[in-house]
Amino acid sequence: MSQPLLSLTGAAKTFGPVVALADGTIEILPGEIHALVGENGAGKSTLVKILAGLYHPDAGAFTVSAASVAFRNVADSKAAGISVIYQEPTLFPDLTVAENIFIGRQPKGALGLISKNRMRQAARDLFARLGVPIDPDRIAEGLSIADQQIIEIAKAISLDAKVLIMDEPTAALSGVEVERLFQVARSLREAGAGILFISHRFDEVFALSDRITVMRDGRYVATHTTADVTTDAIVREMVGRDIGALFPKSHSEIGDVVLHVEDLGRAGVFTNISFEVRAGEVVALAGLVGAGRTEVARAVFGIDPYDSGSVSFLGTRLKRHDPQAAIDAGMGFVPEDRRKQGLVMDLSVARNATLTLRNSLARFGIISAGAERRAAEEWTARLQVKTGSQEYAVSTLSGGNQQKVVLAKWLATEPKFLIVDEPTRGIDIGTKSEVHRLLSDLAARGIAILMISSELPEVLGMADRVLVMHEGRITAQLDRADATPETVMHAATASLEGAK
Ligand SMILES: Nc1ncnc2c1ncn2[C@@H]1O[C@H](COP(=O)(O)OP(=O)(O)OP(=O)(O)O)[C@@H](O)[C@H]1O
Ligand SMILES: [Mg+2]
Repeated sequence: MSQPLLSLTGAAKTFGPVVALADGTIEILPGEIHALVGENGAGKSTLVKILAGLYHPDAGAFTVSAASVAFRNVADSKAAGISVIYQEPTLFPDLTVAENIFIGRQPKGALGLISKNRMRQAARDLFARLGVPIDPDRIAEGLSIADQQIIEIAKAISLDAKVLIMDEPTAALSGVEVERLFQVARSLREAGAGILFISHRFDEVFALSDRITVMRDGRYVATHTTADVTTDAIVREMVGRDIGALFPKSHSEIGDVVLHVEDLGRAGVFTNISFEVRAGEVVALAGLVGAGRTEVARAVFGIDPYDSGSVSFLGTRLKRHDPQAAIDAGMGFVPEDRRKQGLVMDLSVARNATLTLRNSLARFGIISAGAERRAAEEWTARLQVKTGSQEYAVSTLSGGNQQKVVLAKWLATEPKFLIVDEPTRGIDIGTKSEVHRLLSDLAARGIAILMISSELPEVLGMADRVLVMHEGRITAQLDRADATPETVMHAATASLEGAK
């Protein structure tokens, strides 16, 4: 067996009373794609931050190419050939793609001047190697997240990275973009790099990885050769118990129309959007990333304006561009980008989970800490939010646990109509089924639900009806019985039926 590019054994990291990592252990070989899996809060990102030089471990042994290392900072880690591709890279928006790649170390021309041509050519060569055509001269602003990640990878290669780490890189990517990223990862593996890949999506883990390391509660559990192991076995090691079925769709009475959207349009974003959602019904809004699903949901809820059409809720026309009116009328909205839009990072878990409940918790305008804690406890327990205390700032929670707090916050309001945008993104497989069950329960109690999801199994498993969007239009409305992977994908990718 070849010498590991990197090996971390028994790494520990605590934050005050919180043990984020008790035994972080991982070995990355040249030419392998190594997946790291575990429930929300298992310690995966903490381990990554140690490898990246962001955190100093309290204990543990760390070697790179068999030599012991102790990184003082990110620069040390980079110098040792380790590059981390973040879920949402932060490029300099005003600089060109090539400048972003070579920032601080531009190739020099004959007289020691920075040669724009050489920089451009070097960037072009990198993209050619990766098989992704991105224009080196364009400004970074406005690039898709997928392209930004590729640029970060190009930068890592130009820095001669031996180990590439990707912490949930696919969370914000569309299917085509995921496939492109995987091709890039495979070609880097071919060239001898080692790749560490974190994802909650098992289809991705099994499609891409050569080996899988499982973590639970901050500890290393086991490493397997992917070909020799099953999803069930991995899940059992991850959660240490049996989990419920995914998509437990329960029967619910479909009642009267709750939401009626008529011919909604917004120039350049969506057109002719008409649909209804009934009490007790789960309507899925399917389509590829960028089809305009989130934009429609935001307009319906009043976060964004629309140019034409109308939104009626419980028989009354809703004021345009007024989210407070929507909330007052009984609507809830769980945003896609929960960390940015759904949480106040410095406030406690309990406070965040009850932000939407403040009126109903108040007695004479005052909310007791006890009432807040009790309300928060119920929902954070149902969603298995992992935190040492309800009083900790929500910023200290792992990514997936932050997502759960936002879900808790909206589910606790018991709205009449709930929009959920990618409800299980970033959420581990154990809690996924719980989120599905909660949504099913809400529907069974007569709540109308509009669910945006890019996961086809989730759409097909949960929805009574599926609306499919493509380029800002609804291209199909399918009843549960007619919704299949083929019919949904066809409407999501093909143009309007009539235009075929
Ligand atoms: N800066 C911090 N302060 C306090 N606690 C922290 C801090 N960073 C992480 N933790 C805690 O350490 C644990 C592990 O977090 P980590 O982010 O590594 O989990 P993860 O496996 O990446 O989870 P996810 O799948 O949700 O991203 C969590 O319980 C988290 O609350
Ligand atoms: Mg994480």
